[in-house]
Amino acid sequence: MLITTAPAALYRDPAVFDAERAAVFAKAWLFMGLEADLTETGDYIAETLAGYPLVVVRDAAGALRGFHNVCRHRAGPLVGDAHGKCAGEFVCRYHGWRYTLDGRLRAATDFGPADGFDARDFGLFPVAVQAWRGLVFVNLDTAAAPLTETLAPLDRLLGDRAFPATAALRRSHAIDCNWKVYVENYLEGYHIGMIHPALAAEVETGRYAVRMEGQVAIHEVPATAGAAEGLWAWIWPNLALNLYRNVLIIEPMRPHGAARTQLDYIYLHDPETEGLAAAIATSERLTDEDRWICQRVQENLGAGVYDQGALSARHENGVRWFQARLMEALEGGADGGQASSHPAAGMRR
Ligand code: FES
Ligand SMILES: [Fe+2]
Repeated sequence: MLITTAPAALYRDPAVFDAERAAVFAKAWLFMGLEADLTETGDYIAETLAGYPLVVVRDAAGALRGFHNVCRHRAGPLVGDAHGKCAGEFVCRYHGWRYTLDGRLRAATDFGPADGFDARDFGLFPVAVQAWRGLVFVNLDTAAAPLTETLAPLDRLLGDRAFPATAALRRSHAIDCNWKVYVENYLEGYHIGMIHPALAAEVETGRYAVRMEGQVAIHEVPATAGAAEGLWAWIWPNLALNLYRNVLIIEPMRPHGAARTQLDYIYLHDPETEGLAAAIATSERLTDEDRWICQRVQENLGAGVYDQGALSARHENGVRWFQARLMEALEGGADGGQASSHPAAGMRR
């Protein structure tokens, strides 16, 4: 049976992106940042993921806590920077309401008398936080299944092989395409011969395979003699983890609206890693090549001549899995699903 692709409108309609925020991104474990940036009480990292401004903090008991970075007064931000340290509490940047690091409203600063005002009704909106091998993930659904369930296939693959963790180098790239165009491009090796000629010389493209295990895609790439072995994995919905020449390249493919994707790469490496420069150069070259094709595809999806194509059973099983998973999320996310991911769920403390 011929497998058709998802319709073009899914890649350009802002209403679809709004639906994906609720049905996909509000229900999945999303990469947030590095646990190494959260060593002491009050250390925080902040990111906007799929349009949700979020903050994760190390609380006084040593636990990681996550919240929407949204004050309950008039929606001001609790923290203004991407990372930093707050002195034992959040002080909203707008009018100075103060919250404990576990999310309770400590003081509605200088609010004045107000009948019926109960601070317990104004705690921060919580999100779930879990760390895995030094990487911090959040889930807007506080009742989500544990992160370790999602990542079990990677744990089996990695065993006790540790990630390099000493130093982090960050590079961001803005790509003018829908996040799904970039993800789907990542999920197949079919384009390697055409788009990545230098990579094609290093791997046996004829034996390239993508294996799905649960919500993880694992690229099986036999290297030609003398080329570096790599691990190329992807985790639903938008994270790639690549271990290449002893550098871990963390690649979140973050949607910024329907037609823009930001890649916020982090390269984790040990200082003595000789392969760092080569790993970065390779990664940047591959990204440039993928950016070129993804932007052209986005342009063509928006042109109005193409609606649906066909997927190769030989090469595009990962894309097929992704499109089926997406449709399942969008179809299931229209009703009951939203209730559990609504930020107000579980807000009273
Ligand atoms: S919006 Fe936070 S104190 Fe006013
Ligand atoms: Fe590519």
